[in-house]
Amino acid sequence: MIGIFDSGVGGLTVVKELFKQMPGYSSVYFGDTARTPYGNKSPELVSAYAVENVRFLLDKGAKVIIVACNTASAVAMDALKKTYPDIPIFEVITPAVKHALAVTQTKRIGVIGTSATISSKIYERLIHESATGAVVIPKACPLFVPLVEENWLKHTETKMIMRKYLMPVKMKMIDTLILGCTHYPLLRPMIEQKMGKQVRIVDPAHETIRTLQKYLADNPSMDASLSKKVDHAFYFSDVTPKVKDIATRWLGKEVDPKKVTFA
Ligand code: DGL
Repeated sequence: MIGIFDSGVGGLTVVKELFKQMPGYSSVYFGDTARTPYGNKSPELVSAYAVENVRFLLDKGAKVIIVACNTASAVAMDALKKTYPDIPIFEVITPAVKHALAVTQTKRIGVIGTSATISSKIYERLIHESATGAVVIPKACPLFVPLVEENWLKHTETKMIMRKYLMPVKMKMIDTLILGCTHYPLLRPMIEQKMGKQVRIVDPAHETIRTLQKYLADNPSMDASLSKKVDHAFYFSDVTPKVKDIATRWLGKEVDPKKVTFA
């Protein structure tokens, strides 16, 4: 199985991409809804949670892990690689950076994400490592997560908040914008409208699944070890009607979320 975890429901946008691009594969999802959000927590705490989450997915039979959460991808990869050196663990940041660098023409790249992701400066670091002279405009947009979870995708209030967050980024004349948080793809139509046609949008979920596909094509034995009897399981550390509602709405199919408690 392909194991995917996130701080909560957001990583379902990555599951959606998996369904779209790799419909023949099974997956097991863990959303840490009891401890969400990660986006305003310390790197140490998020790393400790991430290590537990991966243990759970491995116990459920995952052979490959996707860290769907941008915040965990930004701060927890060292801890994960140290704890699970033999497990292929994919994060969502590197594929997004690679794609942004492939499509930008001016090398002026905006990045939006949670406060923890933006404070980690990981996007700047990775972009500058590969492209000298690139200019990165980072912006934390902490209010986007609750707005998306409330399904305020078209509300005037969302538009106003978006203007406040994105105008300073747009003014810096970027030509590429990375949606560095699980929830932001749901705001994509409004973001595209705000940024204008000249700005290319990069969705890390899309790029990450493409990267996984390529990895499996290059590693046939790993590919063969993944179950092709398509089955998807969804676990959460807290299950409320809202979790079920969001999961079903975002994935466009009935989801039966199971509650799990770590000892
Ligand atoms: N999943 C988180 C991310 O992509 C957003 C929600 C949170 O703050 O936990 O950064």
